[in-house]
Amino acid sequence: MKEFLTTREDYHLLHPRQVIILVVGSFERANMMPLGWHTILSRNPFLVGLAISPKRFSHSMLMDFPFATINLVDKSFEELVENTGKCSGKNVDKFEQFHVNKVLAENGSAYIEGIPAYLEATRKGYFETGDHTLFVLEITKSVLKRPFCPLFQIAGDQYQQFLVE
Ligand SMILES: Cc1cc2nc3c(=O)[nH]c(=O)nc-3n(C[C@H](O)[C@H](O)[C@H](O)COP(=O)(O)O)c2cc1C
Repeated sequence: MKEFLTTREDYHLLHPRQVIILVVGSFERANMMPLGWHTILSRNPFLVGLAISPKRFSHSMLMDFPFATINLVDKSFEELVENTGKCSGKNVDKFEQFHVNKVLAENGSAYIEGIPAYLEATRKGYFETGDHTLFVLEITKSVLKRPFCPLFQIAGDQYQQFLVE
């Protein structure tokens, strides 16, 4: 069988990744960041790991304020994923900029209005892992508002919806 050596961006061999939009910060200062490098770490307690580069404004926000929401998106949120992934909350209020309404979450953070599902999360710890930080978050509340087909990132700006039969 033919073998191909991969060099740059070989992490794409571990794609596709389900895309989430992480909302960090208190309700007033909430910021959105699309994120593909995440994993379930534990069922009970329900723990999730998120790999966030220290270059992201969301990284410092999650260090400062330990509550966040994980927003589960379908294809109708693809444009928002692209837009929020191209700018930094350091310079812009992404909710205002992209005309998105936020809703107060029980933990004092915010979730995206119209989102099919979201998880409320509390930061439990973090570890430096190469050029990213692995944040461990405990899920304190899970809300499914409607059935949905999750959006996956294939690579770059290529996305595909996972069809649930
Ligand atoms: C689909 C997608 C997935 C991404 N996944 C990650 C990720 O897992 N970790 C990360 O640090 N950045 C990831 N990014 C990049 C950030 O979302 C992007 O740099 C964003 O603008 C950061 O915003 P902020 O500076 O407001 O935090 C991803 C971007 C996109 C579009």
